[in-house]
Amino acid sequence: MNTIQIEDKTFEILLENDNISKRTRLIGIQINVDYENRCPIFIGVLNGSFLFMADLLREIEIPCEIGFIQVSSYTGAESSGKIRETFGLPKNLHNRDVIIVEDIVDTGYTLNYVVGEVIKQAPASISVCTLLFKPAALKKPIEELEYVGFEIENEFVVGYGLDYNGLGRNLKDIYREKTVATPLP
Ligand code: IMP
Repeated sequence: MNTIQIEDKTFEILLENDNISKRTRLIGIQINVDYENRCPIFIGVLNGSFLFMADLLREIEIPCEIGFIQVSSYTGAESSGKIRETFGLPKNLHNRDVIIVEDIVDTGYTLNYVVGEVIKQAPASISVCTLLFKPAALKKPIEELEYVGFEIENEFVVGYGLDYNGLGRNLKDIYREKTVATPLP
């Protein structure tokens, strides 16, 4: 199935699950090396990161803990820029090595907010691991962005945790919105 329809939008395949799994395995290996002899706490940013978080954690072999935060900034296919927290951070991040796990970094507003909230608890270190990164959409630079699965164009994507109006999170692969070519005059 190479194209799918969700409400008014048509999407085409961008990244197959196999490809996502291979990249996730490599990131996991890197984190196992970088955090050897430490016990990081992974904070998944809900809802979008739930599948990536689960698959990434299966590759982590060092001792670790997990937690979640739920925030939202998107309505439909555009970031509203205003972050709403609906499910708070764990309160035990003081002196811990924190790894924030995101599905996608778009404008960077969400991560900026989450990093700010983590810093308030004075952790030992913070790094960010995101499956997807849209460099061209970034409005808030993120120094802590350490692990990136794939850099993608500034286009709207769904699947593997990412949604359009709440739909599509369950898809195994990642799809991008198909744009209609404008005919030349
Ligand atoms: P940011 O705050 O603009 O960086 O956006 C971060 C959040 O917006 C992500 O965690 C996603 O939930 C959502 N988001 C950003 N880009 C997309 C996209 O292309 N498809 C679906 N959700 C997206």
